[in-house]
Amino acid sequence: MASDWCELHVHIEGTLEPAMIFDRARANGIELADPDEASLALRYEFRDLQSFLDLYYENMRVLRTEADFYELTAAYLRRAATAGVGHVELFVDPQAHSARGVPAGTVLRGVHRALDTVGAEAGVTGGIIACVVRDQPVASADAMLDDVLGSGVPILGLGLDSAEVGYPPSLFARTFERARDAGLHVVAHAGEEGGPDYVWEALDVLGAERIDHGIRSLEDPALVRRLGSEQIPLTVCPLSNVRLRAVPSIEEHPLPKMLDLGLKVTINSDDPAYFGGYLDDNLEALRDAFGFDPDVFRTLAANSVAASFISGAPARA
Ligand code: ADE
Ligand code: ZN
Repeated sequence: MASDWCELHVHIEGTLEPAMIFDRARANGIELADPDEASLALRYEFRDLQSFLDLYYENMRVLRTEADFYELTAAYLRRAATAGVGHVELFVDPQAHSARGVPAGTVLRGVHRALDTVGAEAGVTGGIIACVVRDQPVASADAMLDDVLGSGVPILGLGLDSAEVGYPPSLFARTFERARDAGLHVVAHAGEEGGPDYVWEALDVLGAERIDHGIRSLEDPALVRRLGSEQIPLTVCPLSNVRLRAVPSIEEHPLPKMLDLGLKVTINSDDPAYFGGYLDDNLEALRDAFGFDPDVFRTLAANSVAASFISGAPARA
């Protein structure tokens, strides 16, 4: 497959495969709750976003050193290249690591070094988007932004992730204002489990240039008009939406409707080690469910390039 896709919504911690969990736990002397991969695998059944996040944060405890983050990113880049990804804008959750005593600089240097070296070998360019973990206090988000800006590692943008409902984007208005002033791009998870009001706030209060997920935007016709007229990119993650029960099945996913409405949608894997696959697996699931012809995939690939920050221009004017 040609490397003509940009992956714009993938959490590096969500690429932590079970084999690497056991490998890193052994290397770092960390005791796991499960004796083996088969036992761990039984826990990959999720009721909702929170039930996934509980396991996601538990598993990432095995990541402690710069080398761990390097190896994690290297493995993702090699796999993404086989999926046709030529460029990635990688989400990282520095607060989830600093809370365990792993400094943001350690995390970012490992990810950045892999993007630089393994990215070049694999033919994948990339950048880092540091995400605010929205169910942690605002002061922690501000400290994270300070750490990230002070790390000396080049950063593409600031994002917003973790448990959505009860944590509206407006809580972090000042943090995102500081990020914009520092020249960072701004994106936000919204409309995954939260309603359209979360998407409005991400756009109007945070100045988000892309909306991550955004599938619940369809409940609000005025929001759909806004997203369509301004061609604001939505980074949609079909397998994630099914596994976290945001939609009942892949066949009932609103992606075809979003395309019909003229929305600028892109396809992404979110947390591929947890949700049944990488970008190519998401594309295959869509092909099987909807029988999309090659033109649709060409549109989706072109959207991903247009929505990326490669050009240096904002994804929306
Ligand atoms: N962090 C990792 N995956 C996420 C998702 N799907 N939604 C919100 N936060 C996340
Ligand atoms: Zn996500």
